[in-house]
Amino acid sequence: PKNVGILAMEIYFPPTCVQQEAMEVHDGASKGKYTIGLGQDCMAFCTEVEDVISMSLTAVTSLLEKYGIDPAQIGRLEVGSETVIDKSKSIKTFLMQIFEESGNTDIEGVDSTNACYGGTAALFNCVNWVESSSWDGRYGLVVCTDSAVYAEGPARPTGGAAAIVMLIGPDAPIAFESKFRGSHMSHVYDFYKPDLASEYPVVDGKLSQTCYLMALDSCYKRFCHKYEKLEGKQFSVVDADYFVFHSPYNKLVQKSFARLLFNDFSRNASSIDEAAKEKLAPFSTLTGDESYQSRDLEKATQQVAKPFYDTKVQPATWVPKQVGNMYTASLYAAFVSLIHNKHSSLAGQRVVMFSYGSGLSATMFSFQIREGQHPFSLSNIATVMNVGGKMKSRHEFPPEKFVETMKLMEHRYGAKDFVTSKDCSLLSPGTYYLTEVDSMYRRFYAKK
Ligand code: ACO
Repeated sequence: PKNVGILAMEIYFPPTCVQQEAMEVHDGASKGKYTIGLGQDCMAFCTEVEDVISMSLTAVTSLLEKYGIDPAQIGRLEVGSETVIDKSKSIKTFLMQIFEESGNTDIEGVDSTNACYGGTAALFNCVNWVESSSWDGRYGLVVCTDSAVYAEGPARPTGGAAAIVMLIGPDAPIAFESKFRGSHMSHVYDFYKPDLASEYPVVDGKLSQTCYLMALDSCYKRFCHKYEKLEGKQFSVVDADYFVFHSPYNKLVQKSFARLLFNDFSRNASSIDEAAKEKLAPFSTLTGDESYQSRDLEKATQQVAKPFYDTKVQPATWVPKQVGNMYTASLYAAFVSLIHNKHSSLAGQRVVMFSYGSGLSATMFSFQIREGQHPFSLSNIATVMNVGGKMKSRHEFPPEKFVETMKLMEHRYGAKDFVTSKDCSLLSPGTYYLTEVDSMYRRFYAKK
């Protein structure tokens, strides 16, 4: 099969959200800390009637319906998530309800977990399957679903929630350039969830920022190396039209892209003109460790990167700024923003993706974008996802109500024997919601 990649996409995020500006006031943070300091506008969250299973039921059902895919045509279903609802039973098995109805139980794949990287692992599994000798000609389906919630404190404004579904097959408009992948994996405690009684992670914020940037450097070097070996010419940021990043918060995306230009400078690559060289020259003798700590370097690289950032990165930042960190879905939500903004001009372009999951695992990979044929065309994908419409029909909660919801969810996490309010008045038609968890911890959902 040729041009294996993403044929179709759907995104779901809860309609309930809280403004970051209001959160600053509520938390007693200085004005601008979350909006400018973190670069975030708004944050979505699940109320007691939604969770990672309901969100993915909604998104999968919607994708199959809107693109006219017969559930019997799915041969592999992979889920990436770091939101633990059950330590054994996979989220994938919950989604089987959709397929069993049409008699299709012949579907490979289960869940992949490693912080925000599980979605990428799931995606690679599906792409590799389609390219393998065990492929049976049917589609793969990838689900990235997470509810990102943090304990009260500095990390709380970097939460978010969403589910993204991607249909995988040959002749895709979003085709993998699998030969250029570069990965970096290592053992660190930057963000982890050792307390199985709590949904909240243990997080060393500063360490996680440095780990992210070190993994980025390492992946970029390997990506460039592979490109150069295969194409016989140097790679720099000018060789890709867009860069899409895993987005815990937008400020880190700005810093990450600037870091790529520092890499280009160190490699003497063509993206760095004379003026930029002069600006960055004072930093050429920094050791690797020093370079992650230097505020002056950060400023200088961000200046050099600014014009590139506006054209190559900014179009892929909208959804994460509005919805927050969606963990496994975060990178793909950034990519959804790019399709939303640029679907009419993306054909023929190269998009570089950077996936990061704490702990840690990271990969840089790239897509070659093609026009595609209906229903798998870029313009139809943008229409089906209707991100603008979904964004407009959201309901803003005051911070007090958000905090109240978090308290209830803490109480509900890992609990049994309760019914929810079943209040689905804020959900749009077709949305699944949680109605009950019985005395055996079995979960029940209904569809609005
Ligand atoms: N106006 C403008 N900017 C401000 C203001 C203000 N009033 N106040 C602070 N800032 C800036 C700071 O200068 C800083 O920017 P800088 O990084 O460019 O210096 C930024 O706002 C954040 O302020 P900090 O004091 O650094 O924030 P804090 O340490 O309280 O928390 C953090 C930030 C560490 C990111 C925290 O939210 C966190 O732990 N989040 C979760 C971990 C995370 O997302 N890590 C990313 C990779 S791992 C993953 O994806 C989970």
